Amino acid sequence: MHSAWLVVLTFCATVLAQSGSIEDYINSEAPISKANLLANIGPNGSRSSGAKAGLVIASPSTSDPDYLFTWTRDSALVFKSLIDQYTLSEDTSSSLRSSIDDYVAAQTVLQQLTNPSGTVSTGGLGEPKFNINLTTFTDGWGRPQRDGPGLRAIALITYANWLIDNSNASYVTNTLWPVIKLDLDYTAKYWNQSGFDLWEEVSSRSFFTTAAQHRSLRQGVTLASKIGQTSVISEYTTQANNLLCFLQSYWNPTDNYVTSNTGGGRSGKDANSVLASIHSFDASAGCDARTFQPCSDKALANHKVYVDAFRTIYSINNATADNKAVATGRYPEDVYYDGQPWYLATAAAAEQLYNALTVWTAQESLEVTSTSLAFFCQFSSSVQTGTYAASSSTFTTLTTAIKAYADGFILVNAKYTPADGSLAEQFHKDDGHPLSAKHLTWSYPATLTAFAARKGVVPAGWGAKDLAVPSVCESNLGPQVTMSFNLIASTVKNEKISIVGSIDALSNWSPDDAHTLKSSPYLLNYSIWNINLKIPASTRFEYKFIRKVNGTLTAWESDPNRSYETPAKGIKVLVQNWR
Ligand SMILES: *[C@@H]1O[C@H](CO)[C@@H](O)[C@H](O)[C@H]1NC(C)=O
Ligand SMILES: *[C@@H]1O[C@H](CO)[C@@H](O)[C@H](O)[C@H]1NC(C)=O
Ligand SMILES: *[C@@H]1O[C@H](CO)[C@@H](O)[C@H](O)[C@H]1NC(C)=O
Ligand SMILES: *[C@@H]1O[C@H](CO)[C@@H](O)[C@H](O)[C@H]1NC(C)=O
Ligand SMILES: *[C@@H]1O[C@H](CO)[C@@H](O)[C@H](O)[C@H]1NC(C)=O
Ligand SMILES: *[C@@H]1O[C@H](CO)[C@@H](O)[C@H](O)[C@H]1NC(C)=O
Ligand SMILES: *[C@@H]1O[C@H](CO)[C@@H](O)[C@H](O)[C@H]1NC(C)=O
Ligand SMILES: *[C@@H]1O[C@H](CO)[C@@H](O)[C@H](O)[C@H]1NC(C)=O
Repeated sequence: MHSAWLVVLTFCATVLAQSGSIEDYINSEAPISKANLLANIGPNGSRSSGAKAGLVIASPSTSDPDYLFTWTRDSALVFKSLIDQYTLSEDTSSSLRSSIDDYVAAQTVLQQLTNPSGTVSTGGLGEPKFNINLTTFTDGWGRPQRDGPGLRAIALITYANWLIDNSNASYVTNTLWPVIKLDLDYTAKYWNQSGFDLWEEVSSRSFFTTAAQHRSLRQGVTLASKIGQTSVISEYTTQANNLLCFLQSYWNPTDNYVTSNTGGGRSGKDANSVLASIHSFDASAGCDARTFQPCSDKALANHKVYVDAFRTIYSINNATADNKAVATGRYPEDVYYDGQPWYLATAAAAEQLYNALTVWTAQESLEVTSTSLAFFCQFSSSVQTGTYAASSSTFTTLTTAIKAYADGFILVNAKYTPADGSLAEQFHKDDGHPLSAKHLTWSYPATLTAFAARKGVVPAGWGAKDLAVPSVCESNLGPQVTMSFNLIASTVKNEKISIVGSIDALSNWSPDDAHTLKSSPYLLNYSIWNINLKIPASTRFEYKFIRKVNGTLTAWESDPNRSYETPAKGIKVLVQNWR
């Protein structure tokens, strides 16, 4: 009798998987995921097991594994998804608003707890997890983890921006800003130190962490200027620029993917990078690769390398063609629970592509570059590099296939979702049965945000548009000095002065990339053109000023090249005449 009942359950799960369309799955799974997510939040969640108000438990599982704690990262990602739902008017219930306010109150308390990572002002914000009764967890752990403060700031700033737009700036200034500022101060101060990655295993530098830190400081600058907290702007901007610079260094140009950790001795192929892409999504930035937008050539190339890493290591993927969706996990070398697929990783693989499709549709074109060609070749063996307008058949072929490919990842999760719709942390690589922590909270927002992305929901942007990677990356190049270049020159209308020279900071003699100087008001027959640049200390370089009219190079200074050697430190001011 008992076993017959089990057979029926298994049969139902199989039916759901094999005959259900993706819409059927989404329609049934979305409300289940939402309910299960809320069940894991204190104080009223039915599975929150006594968690204090506003705390997210990682899972109700108390053994094999024991996840009945609250993690700063997971909680921030959960609440970011809920704050998006609230601020995008998808769920305007007063209980959701109360829950968000509870989250704010709980985080305000947690920030102040002295813990093994430090006090509130000496690094304690890098503590990864706490007890669910709002006390410090003191056992051994992979600490610190430096993504939590940035992710929490991102969630709270998203809420803050909505409150400001809804005439509640006083709550932002009085209640949210003090919490946000602590997180951003922490991020600005500690971003350049190593810490444990999001999987809590490798202590080095991690792409996901760097991306979250960068985003948080950019959003912090914008919020600070909105509410008049101008004293932080300079420092946050400086460190955001350094972070954007450092973010570029993870790219592996030979093998076309992001090496997710600088340490750990692994391939670096990791869901870390796909999660970084979806959590960096800003539709206004188009397909910008510097911020690893989902449709950027680098993020697409990385997607292929990441997914391919799982095609042959899970037997449930055996029968799947090379260009069809498969179950994916954290990273191919994973040994936790013997290395299995994760629901949230597989959902992220879908979400990145849905976000990409949203942007291509909005901009009415997509670009195939030499970097992303291998990704696109999965969907059309004859595709070539180029830009394809929405009216072209290539655009239709590619976007239709990519949509089906993205849906394929959701259908993999659907196939291995049990009949009650619950999502654990992992599912088994041989037969797909759920594994490890039951009701992993993060599995639910990961599912819901992938569904929302499929509908074309676009979360609020964060200022990724038009960010320039500083030509000098302090984090990579060591000590810098500031050079103030001032040139006395007479110019005609539409004419501008630029500077170009023998080092990275001076665009390596490339006039197209030259920095343009700013002119003072015209004096008698000239103006003074100025630019301040960071140049490596104790470095000899050559340079010239050039003229451009309407952006086109019209004149170089006469020979010889100018040359200068920077001092070991300080600021140097040069005032020179056009030659
Ligand atoms: C939790 O339940 C209490 C008692 O019913 C209620 O006052 C409170 O608003 C609830 N909190 C949330 C976040 O729904
Ligand atoms: C909080 O929870 C921890 C872990 O369960 C427990 O050891 C501790 O005694 C609790 N503290 C309080 C004040 O309830
Ligand atoms: C501002 O938002 C807070 C947090 O939800 C709320 O408690 C407060 O009543 C709001 N104030 C106004 C004026 O709407
Ligand atoms: C997949 O392949 C492995 C070895 O290559 C094999 O042991 C396993 O049975 C296969 N699984 C399925 C589901 O085909
Ligand atoms: C970051 O750390 C590296 C290595 O410790 C150091 O060389 C570099 O100067 C630091 N960069 C910044 C901007 O602090
Ligand atoms: C401005 O005019 C003076 C006097 O004619 C001349 O000596 C000087 O070179 C001119 N300056 C520039 C920048 O053309
Ligand atoms: C530069 O652009 C302006 C405005 O578009 C135009 O009037 C002018 O003729 C252009 N000058 C040259 C040299 O192309
Ligand atoms: C100035 O530098 C450029 C780039 O290195 C070089 O090609 C050129 O010959 C130099 N000019 C002189 C006069 O040395």
